[in-house]
Amino acid sequence: MHSFLSRSFPLAVANRTTRYSKASIEIALPEETRIGLGRFVIDDCLNVLTELDDESVDLVITSPPYDGQAKYGNGERYEREWYTGTFLSITKEVYRVLRPHGSFVLNYRSKRHGDERGLLQYELVFWLREQGFLFAEDFIWGKPSPPPGRFNRYLKDAVEYVFHFGKTPQWQFFPEQCLTPARWDARDRERRKKLAHNYERVNEPSGQGRKRVQAGPDMVRPSTLLLMEPEFLPNPTEHPSRFPVALPAFFINLLTKSGQLVVDPFAGTGTTAVAAEQLGRQWLCVDTNATYASVLPERLRTGH
Ligand SMILES: C[S@@+](CC[C@H](N)C(=O)[O-])C[C@H]1O[C@@H](n2cnc3c(N)ncnc32)[C@H](O)[C@@H]1O
Repeated sequence: MHSFLSRSFPLAVANRTTRYSKASIEIALPEETRIGLGRFVIDDCLNVLTELDDESVDLVITSPPYDGQAKYGNGERYEREWYTGTFLSITKEVYRVLRPHGSFVLNYRSKRHGDERGLLQYELVFWLREQGFLFAEDFIWGKPSPPPGRFNRYLKDAVEYVFHFGKTPQWQFFPEQCLTPARWDARDRERRKKLAHNYERVNEPSGQGRKRVQAGPDMVRPSTLLLMEPEFLPNPTEHPSRFPVALPAFFINLLTKSGQLVVDPFAGTGTTAVAAEQLGRQWLCVDTNATYASVLPERLRTGH
């Protein structure tokens, strides 16, 4: 068992009824809450990561505060200096606690600064490489229904990055755990079966000389373009930037096995915990704001 689960904890809140009303969201989670397969800690994530053993975590997936967004009620403005200082201290700990086969998945999008798109999202990649991370892949999260808005010389912003970093070149990789329906439909498959390139050349005694082969599987490996709607579900704690459960679920499937440990150091409303719990992974989530996490017991109960 992971050491993070073997410590003693205050009373779990799994039995508490959490209704989505103003009154109930004022009930914040206690400092540490053990629920289901994991633990939610209300603290600065640097404190929590520092407590973890070296090479004890299989996947860290997170979406840190976006730059210049003083929206989380703790007085922090998350300017560039926060990233060059605190954030890089946190990612240094992330690197230390990851197992050699572990991955760090970072969902991030710089905001617009005046006439330009912020560059921090690209700088982060360079800084993390300097810390030793391998830049494995950049996924694009495309939002079919982006937040509305009318902007002078810009279009609605419908994309975010999801950067995948490995600790070593041997990062775990299970694309077969997140297969996606192939784009060809049944009629298309019938048509493809008749095409010449769907016949294998063989020397059959019948003299046929060719054998029909599959036109293609129904389920195929996904691509690096992730089309997922933003989170539209009720938002009782008024969290300003949740990601949908489908996002952490995709990477948990792609990069971990059942029973392994997933950590989200900036966990907000606990979306990563919901995904990890559904997929049978142990999880550790951290956020400084206890109110955001108050919806977690109900989210775990309903699964979304
Ligand atoms: C982009 S939000 C994450 C939202 C989350 N993915 C969800 O779906 O609810 C970033 C979170 O980081 C938290 N946060 C900011 N500084 C923190 C710190 N030093 N340690 C832990 N959490 C922090 C904020 O309270 C905020 O909830």
